[in-house]
Amino acid sequence: MSPTADLGVYIHWPYCARICPYCDFNVVRDRGRTQEQADLAAAILADLEAQRALTGPRRLVSIFFGGGTPSLMDPQAAADMIAAARRLWDAAPDLEISLEANPTDAETGRFAALADAGVNRLSLGVQALDDASLAFLGRNHDAGAARRAATEAARLFPRLSLDLIYARPGQTPDAWAEELRTAIGWGAEHLSPYQLTIESGTAFDRAVRRGAFRPADEVLGAALYDTTQSVLEAQGFDAYEVSNHAKGPAARSRHNLVYWSGQDYVGVGPGAHGRLTLDGRRTATGAHRAIGAYIAAVRDTGLGFAEREALSPVEAAEERLLMGLRIDAGVGFDELAPLGLTAGHPEVVALAADGLLRPDHQRLRATRRGRLVLDWITGQLATAANPA
Ligand SMILES: C[S@@+](CC[C@H](N)C(=O)[O-])C[C@H]1O[C@@H](n2cnc3c(N)ncnc32)[C@H](O)[C@@H]1O
Ligand code: SF4
Repeated sequence: MSPTADLGVYIHWPYCARICPYCDFNVVRDRGRTQEQADLAAAILADLEAQRALTGPRRLVSIFFGGGTPSLMDPQAAADMIAAARRLWDAAPDLEISLEANPTDAETGRFAALADAGVNRLSLGVQALDDASLAFLGRNHDAGAARRAATEAARLFPRLSLDLIYARPGQTPDAWAEELRTAIGWGAEHLSPYQLTIESGTAFDRAVRRGAFRPADEVLGAALYDTTQSVLEAQGFDAYEVSNHAKGPAARSRHNLVYWSGQDYVGVGPGAHGRLTLDGRRTATGAHRAIGAYIAAVRDTGLGFAEREALSPVEAAEERLLMGLRIDAGVGFDELAPLGLTAGHPEVVALAADGLLRPDHQRLRATRRGRLVLDWITGQLATAANPA
């Protein structure tokens, strides 16, 4: 890989004050485990160092602190990780440093220190704008706290993104449109509205099984998705990805684009995934999910990896198809060559005729309607592909 090829760094911080009933991320309840958190921060620094030996010199375009709740971490630990990444790779002048935050007072109190540490983009999980919905989602903050946190974040960070969850039981397109317009008024340049997914093994999964509530059906989900697209478009937010809307190209998340355009990223912290080009092969890495196992692996081997697998050209192309169709830029047919997919492939032609794909000579893109059924489309294309 060329020393000037772009690289992202993902840092996973797994602790949360409370576990939300819908969430299946790799998280643990933060019970003041200060020694463990210090050990984890040290292991993350060592893992970064060891992965630098794998990647060689690269141009660092993004650092993303995800979780869990990285706004709960000691700001000094975040500063140390940022300094390490800057020292190990060649930081781009416009290096994006994002951090996911929850709107509780404890976390808002840390915003200034996190901004001082170098975080220049905050991704705030407001999720909903009314207290009843926040209670349903099991959040530990009310709408007032979310608004105060957003106002404070807009003052302290150059860039602000808000996460919202829609398709909550009983939600109507009109109420959702109003909620989106209010959220825009809070000063964010980027919005990530996610449709509520009932993940297996979560508290919501159990609640749905015992009939405590019924999730939105496909028809309502599609109507709310359409509302999202039209309200945000009208307010100047372009849908550069299925669930990500930015007020102009400069507001797009650099980190998201690293993922979806197939660039390399280092993943550190428990359960973090990475994609690295090693010896010319796209390589998938996955860190140990349990905190203790991750710390032990770094101590014993230098790296936190539980798995490291070179993808075959067909697997790498399938992944590019899946990721590329999510974004408005689409995916180049040159990247799909191992699958034998071209603009003239019968399945591509058929899906284009159905209004789901928009191919040109060089690239394959999904239409707005197509983005609603991306899993199905990629399944159809993968089945119809003629691997070389
Ligand atoms: C890693 S999580 C959270 C960051 C932060 N801890 C928070 O809760 O605000 C990233 C985002 O994923 C979304 N999310 C998580 N689980 C979801 C689910 N089951 N359905 C829809 N969105 C979900 C939420 O909007 C959340 O803010
Ligand atoms: S949604 Fe955020 S705060 Fe809630 S459990 Fe998941 S990562 Fe933690």
